[in-house]
Amino acid sequence: MKKKPEVVVITGASAGVGRATAHRFARDGARIALLARGSDGLDVAAEEVRKLGGEALAIAVDVADADAVEAAAERIEQELGPIDIWINDAMATIFAPVHEISAAEFRRATEVTYLGTVHGTMAALKRMRARDRGTIVQVGSALAYRAIPLQAPYCGAKFAIRGFTDALRVELMHEKSRIHVTMVQLSAFNTPQFQWGRTKLPRRPQPVPPVFQPEVAARGIHWAAHHRRRELRVGFPAVKAIVGNKLFPRLADRDLAKLGYEGQMGGQPVPEDRPDNLFEPVIADYGTHGRFDARSRAYSLQLWATTHRSLVLAGALAAGALLWAASRGTRTAARRLG
Ligand SMILES: NC(=O)c1ccc[n+]([C@@H]2O[C@H](COP(=O)([O-])OP(=O)(O)OC[C@H]3O[C@@H](n4cnc5c(N)ncnc54)[C@H](OP(=O)(O)O)[C@@H]3O)[C@@H](O)[C@H]2O)c1
Repeated sequence: MKKKPEVVVITGASAGVGRATAHRFARDGARIALLARGSDGLDVAAEEVRKLGGEALAIAVDVADADAVEAAAERIEQELGPIDIWINDAMATIFAPVHEISAAEFRRATEVTYLGTVHGTMAALKRMRARDRGTIVQVGSALAYRAIPLQAPYCGAKFAIRGFTDALRVELMHEKSRIHVTMVQLSAFNTPQFQWGRTKLPRRPQPVPPVFQPEVAARGIHWAAHHRRRELRVGFPAVKAIVGNKLFPRLADRDLAKLGYEGQMGGQPVPEDRPDNLFEPVIADYGTHGRFDARSRAYSLQLWATTHRSLVLAGALAAGALLWAASRGTRTAARRLG
């Protein structure tokens, strides 16, 4: 029997990781609600979803507005059916040191990145709790564990999402709910974020290398939406940052103080008339990829390994057994000769 198409909601689906994730689900034939503010990117993303075999419903919504997110969820259930998966991906950032950021900018980045995730989760929960099923995926970052300079509002919001998600997970466990909530911690990705995120830096912002293509993140998010893993890390740099910071936090502070500024800036000055998407969407379709295609990796061995743990374990056991047999054979031969 043919499987019923999943109903999937993706916030921040007009660009970058969110849009690549929409492509991935479209290949399954999913019915996808694409949420973001800018209609230029949304309309093209919806068209791409249809071409890839999915059904698309584009809704222009600001995730900082809880009522608008709730109204979008209502419309999605009416037009596409009961929501199976809700992915909170939308984000806004400011590249600047803390002393150059205004209170209004801090509030706005927090309202979009942190509260946007809370609003999406609330709208999803309201419907999923009634049915006792569904999956909520929070798109996180290594920066939810290890904050870096020049992105304090964003790092604060990502830490907050992790705290919120941990609390919710335990509440769901307490209720013996079958709803699954998971967080996907990403490394650095080649997305338009670095072209339209507000910046006060002298040179153009860039993701700290090594950089991956957004399709790698999309594969991880799609996998996390279909497995019961508490958290998934995508890309070895995320694992390194999270584990390294846990073991050596002071060393990480010192490294970032030395390298964290230069690593986040390219060589070119920021153009005078560069638009940003903090308070309003940018009028143009910025697409899925940013400007770093030439140096972005399309594959992550770490993602493959963490999503194929039993194969990795079986391989390690087989290699161990071979090594053991070989060393035993060598010792027996040596004894015979001696
Ligand atoms: N790129 C990376 O290096 C990286 C690394 C780690 C984690 N991540 C995570 O990956 C996710 C996606 O990041 P990205 O790099 O793909 O970002 P991006 O390229 O800047 O795309 C952000 C998306 O969010 C939407 N958005 C922004 N403000 C919004 C608002 N107020 N309401 C609704 N939608 C809004 C944007 O569309 P509109 O502006 O049209 O609304 C766009 O669709 C984020 O959660 C981010 O934290 C990214």
